Amino acid sequence: MKRQSGADGQGILPVPRTGEEAGRVYDRLSRFYGYTVGALGRRYSGMALRRLSIGEGETVLEIGFGTGYCLEVMAKLVGETGSACGVDISPGMIGKTRRRLEKAGLQKSVELCCGDATCLPFAGGAFDAVFMSFALEVLDTPQIAEALAEIKRVLKPGGRLGAACMSKERGESAAVRVYEWAHKRCPMYIASRPIYAERAFRDAGYRISDKHSLKIFGLPAEIIVALRP
Ligand SMILES: C[S@@+](CC[C@H](N)C(=O)[O-])C[C@H]1O[C@@H](n2cnc3c(N)ncnc32)[C@H](O)[C@@H]1O
Repeated sequence: MKRQSGADGQGILPVPRTGEEAGRVYDRLSRFYGYTVGALGRRYSGMALRRLSIGEGETVLEIGFGTGYCLEVMAKLVGETGSACGVDISPGMIGKTRRRLEKAGLQKSVELCCGDATCLPFAGGAFDAVFMSFALEVLDTPQIAEALAEIKRVLKPGGRLGAACMSKERGESAAVRVYEWAHKRCPMYIASRPIYAERAFRDAGYRISDKHSLKIFGLPAEIIVALRP
């Protein structure tokens, strides 16, 4: 599997699947995602969401919301005077999130759309904040840049983008090598892989306002808040 060059010439593994294939894969995963990977990552997604400092009355968007844990929190944070939207490529994940929101009595407070991060169905400057939790690194490298450009378009000037992602910024490690080995063998299902998120944000014209490095089961990850200038 050929590595794709990052801005610094170091490699990021490709994700060789179409949007349609991604939708089908996450539809299958949606049946147990909330009890497995989603449950394990929840603590870190919550941490990232807190750093985005969402306030009452704001208009917010989550892209790649999975089973909707963070989207539910976001809807509560913006309250009745704000609004929350979510975009995900998988109808299965959308179904799971819809049921979660219904249980929480929030079904009327959140707009859910089936769509692609690289082509968002919103007008320019629509959002105060956009959030992505472990969703940027499932996109193929060219699509990461496309999604970041789309997010910049839908953010208001000064708007915030918060993301939690697996990271390669601090170099290679045994855990990264093992993870990448698994990704290379099964890129369709283990699509996420460590990326250079901070560099990608800067290259896309964002200003980094906050960053925090951490390890998730030995894998380096980063929480970044970036501003649309
Ligand atoms: C690894 S899961 C992360 C889910 C959730 N954010 C979390 O932290 O548990 C990636 C999510 O991104 C969605 N996704 C994958 N490719 C996408 C795309 N091109 N556009 C929008 N969503 C996408 C998947 O359906 C899935 O819900």
